[in-house]
Amino acid sequence: MVDFDFTEEQLMVREMARAFAQKEVAPHAHTWDENGTFPTEAIKKMGTLGLMGVAVPPEYGGAGFDTVSYVLAMEEISLACAGTSVAMSVNNSLACDPILKFGNEAQKQKFLKPMASGKLLGCFALSEPGNGSDAGAAQCTATLTADGRHYVVEGTKNFITNGPNADLCILFATTDRAKGNKGISAFISEMPAPGLTVGPNEKKLGIKASSTSQLIYENCLIPVDNRLGNEGDGFKIAMATLDGGRIGIAAQALGIARAAYEAAGRYALERKAFGAPIANLQAIQFKLADMATRLEAARLLTLQAAVLKDRKVRHTKESAMAKLYASEAAMWIATQGIQVHGGYGYLKDYPAERHFRDAKITELYEGTSEIQRLVIALNVLKELAG
Ligand code: CAA
Repeated sequence: MVDFDFTEEQLMVREMARAFAQKEVAPHAHTWDENGTFPTEAIKKMGTLGLMGVAVPPEYGGAGFDTVSYVLAMEEISLACAGTSVAMSVNNSLACDPILKFGNEAQKQKFLKPMASGKLLGCFALSEPGNGSDAGAAQCTATLTADGRHYVVEGTKNFITNGPNADLCILFATTDRAKGNKGISAFISEMPAPGLTVGPNEKKLGIKASSTSQLIYENCLIPVDNRLGNEGDGFKIAMATLDGGRIGIAAQALGIARAAYEAAGRYALERKAFGAPIANLQAIQFKLADMATRLEAARLLTLQAAVLKDRKVRHTKESAMAKLYASEAAMWIATQGIQVHGGYGYLKDYPAERHFRDAKITELYEGTSEIQRLVIALNVLKELAG
């Protein structure tokens, strides 16, 4: 693997994240997964290390690094525990980033600073029970009060990662239903709040250390000062935020894939069959070769999207490509990982089955693989048409 000309700083961030993840996250990943334990203490420590606001400037509480550093750190945390890394990814990409990009100075001081430094945890509420892929069809409403000082929010948001543990939420609600996606607005919703009920922690197939819930808004007042951008800007804020978020999920998929690949490789070198390690068998060698190749391809696409984001170049297509490829590679690699382990791969005694369960979510959240293909197709068709 070429080192992609990483700077000293980027390598330092990767090393720091690796050391932390191997010492403080990896040893607990199995138990957190088994018990569905949210890693509160690890997340706090990640805050002190700058991992909860990697690319946020120091004046707003972040570590002041770049998106490439964020990708490198995400891969290392995800290699250890994908449940922990999604909490990190949502805080960095979906909660801090939109305030950094679209918030005013007061919002940055009040909300971004504590979130980027890990004192508060953020979440992102776009999906609803009746709409996920069709994000523009949001039914949740925000109605301005007669005195014009607050919005009254009504509606339910669904699949909210970090929901049960969050202190702040980037919330999307429609302020003018007649305008369709141009009537959606974005808000910073403080948690807890009167009129906001956090639903029970959902029981999931994988990433069990992460928490997920509904957020139910009933007559919940949000100050006008907490609106992000102008009324009607919400859909574009959501889409632009997801352009960054998908890089985080691609990096998460990369970490899961690497964990599955390395576990399979270790097993293949140890396990003997027909009088020799199974790594001597071409059937296993070809699997490892394909796993390694897809892993590298996923890493290059992910870094490409990160470099474009750092250059402030529109990266909608490249983020979708990175997320699509890395998530499908992770699912494929994790499936091969179980196959290399044979029957043992199906048991909880080995981490292969956790990697397999964790990989699946990366094909679903922040836009399914089908949505990524749609985004890529729209962009390539534009390019092809000149
Ligand atoms: N950046 C900026 N603007 C964008 C944009 C982007 N990436 N994508 C679209 N827009 C703009 C368009 O230019 C267009 O603007 P104009 O009307 O001014 O021309 C406007 O937004 C509407 O665009 P579309 O017509 O393309 O919108 P659409 O309704 O057809 O939807 C979609 C497009 C790609 C399907 C979109 O709805 C989508 O991405 N859906 C998936 C949603 C998603 O990823 N949800 C994940 C939930 S969050 C999550 O999972 C977090 C978690 O907990 C881990």
